[in-house]
Amino acid sequence: MTAKTYAIRTFGCQMNEHDSERIAGLLEADGLVPALDADAADVVVLNTCCIRENADNKLYGTLGHLKTAKEQRPGLEIIVSGCLAQNDREELQRRAGHVDVILGTHNVHRAVELLHESRETGPVLEIWDEALEEAESFPSALAVRREIDYSAWVSIQIGCDNTCTYCIVPAVRGRELSRPFGELVAEVQRLAADGVHEITLLGQNVNSYGRDLTLSRREVGVVYDDVLIAGSLWAADDSRRIRPLFADLLTAVSAVEGIERVRFTSPHPKDLRPETIVAMAENDAVCNHLHLPLQSGSDSILTAMHRGYTAERYLEKLAAARAGIEDLAVSTDIIVGFPGETEDDFERTLAVAAEAEFDLAYTFIFSPRDGTVAATYSDRFVDSEVVSARFKRLHTVTERSALAKHRARIGRIEEVVVEGVSRRNDQMLSSRTRQNKLLHFASGTALRPGTRASVLVTDAGAHYLAGELVEVLAAPRHRTRIPVSAG
Ligand code: 5AD
Ligand code: SF4
Repeated sequence: MTAKTYAIRTFGCQMNEHDSERIAGLLEADGLVPALDADAADVVVLNTCCIRENADNKLYGTLGHLKTAKEQRPGLEIIVSGCLAQNDREELQRRAGHVDVILGTHNVHRAVELLHESRETGPVLEIWDEALEEAESFPSALAVRREIDYSAWVSIQIGCDNTCTYCIVPAVRGRELSRPFGELVAEVQRLAADGVHEITLLGQNVNSYGRDLTLSRREVGVVYDDVLIAGSLWAADDSRRIRPLFADLLTAVSAVEGIERVRFTSPHPKDLRPETIVAMAENDAVCNHLHLPLQSGSDSILTAMHRGYTAERYLEKLAAARAGIEDLAVSTDIIVGFPGETEDDFERTLAVAAEAEFDLAYTFIFSPRDGTVAATYSDRFVDSEVVSARFKRLHTVTERSALAKHRARIGRIEEVVVEGVSRRNDQMLSSRTRQNKLLHFASGTALRPGTRASVLVTDAGAHYLAGELVEVLAAPRHRTRIPVSAG
C-alpha cells in the first residue's frame, strides 16, 4: 500500500517552525511521508501566525484554494494550527467548514489524534485556553522530524509574562512556563549523541527562563528535585537568590560534549543580566551573536509600548554586552509607526539605530492586532504614508551599518557550518559564521550540510559575505538520512 503523504506550510516565527517539525514528527509516526509535490499531498497542515502581518487574509486565501482542491479530491484532509487558530477560532470555523481539524498553540501534540477523530466524526475543533499537561506543552526536539540533521531547536520556555502593548503573543501563547533544567540538559545530551552539533534555545523571553521554576522553591535545604528543576548550581546555593538560571543553562548546555554552537532567541533588553553576558563570553560554544530587540528609540514610545527600559538603558546594556563578549554581532527588531509616534520620536529611533550600529535589523510597520492594548489607540494611529516614508528612512540607516559590519569582515578567516548548496548559484555553498552571518563560498568539492570549515572572506553585501574555502575542519557526525520516496 502506498503511504499517505503530508505537506506543512508554516507562517511566522521559529517557535512556529519548531511546532511544525513536531507535527511532522507526529504524522510520520502515524505512517505518513512528506509529499514530494505539496499540491498532491493527502494531508495539508497550515500552521498559522498572527503576530504582525494580516496573516488572516493569506490564510483565508489559501483555504479558498484548498476548498477547490478538496472538491476535486475529497480524500484531502486539512489541519489548521497555530496562533491564528488559537485567536480566531469562531471566525475560522464559520468561514472554513472544509477544514478537518482546527487546533491551537497548547495542544499541538494532539494533531494526529484529532485527525483520527475527524475521520469518525467529521470536522473537529479543539483549542485549549492554556497549557494543561506541562510535559506535553513543550515541543521536545526529540519527538520531532528535524528539518536539519546537525542543528536543532530546543524550546526552553513557552508563553510570555510581559505586557508589550502591541503584542498578541501573551494572548495566544499564554503565561510563561519554563521547562525543567535537567530535562533540557538531558535532551541536549541526547541530541548531541544523535550527531547534532548546533542548538538554538527558543523562548519569548529567554532571560527570564526559570523564574517560574524557582519562585516557589526558595526555602533553604536542597531536595533532590531541585537539581532536575533548576540545575545543580542553583540547588547548591543556600541563599536561594533569584539566580539568572538562563546563564546557568547556557553554561550547562555548552558543556555537553559534541555541542559546538549554542544560539538563543530572544532576550528582552530589560532582563539582560551581567551573568548572561559572562556566560556568553566564558563558554566557547556560545556563539557571538545577540538578538536584542530595540522596538523604538523614543522613551515616550517605549513607555507606551510597556517595554520597561529607556533608549539610554538599552544602549548601556548593548555597550556592556559588546565590552564583555569579543567580536559580538548584534541584531534587533524595530517597529515603525506605533500609535502616537511623532517625527521627533521617529528621529530618536533613527539616532539610536545609527549609534547602535546593528549588524542586522528586522524592521516592521506597526500592525494593530485585535485583542492588544495598542489596537485600541486608533485615535493615535499614524498616517500610512508617513509610516512608509519613515520605514524607508530607517531602512537606509540600518542597511548602512549592516553593510559596514559585513565589509569589516573582508580579509578575515571565519569558521563556518555548511548549510547546503546556495539557492542562487549551484556552484557555491551557503554557510553560517559564528556571528550568524550568511557566507557563500566556492569549495571546489561538495561538502555535506553540517561540515565545519574555515573560509576567507573576500567580499560583502549588507546581508551576506562571500569567500573562498581555506580548509575543511570537520565532517558532520550525524547519520545521513536515507530519503523516503513517496512512491
Ligand atoms: N506590529 C508590528 N510589529 C510587531 N511585532 C510584534 N507585534 C507587532 C505588531 N503588532 C514585532 C516586534 C517583535 C517581532 C517578533 O515582531 O518587533 O520583536
Ligand atoms: Fe511580545 Fe513583549 Fe512578550 Fe516579546 S516580550 S513576546 S514583544 S509581549
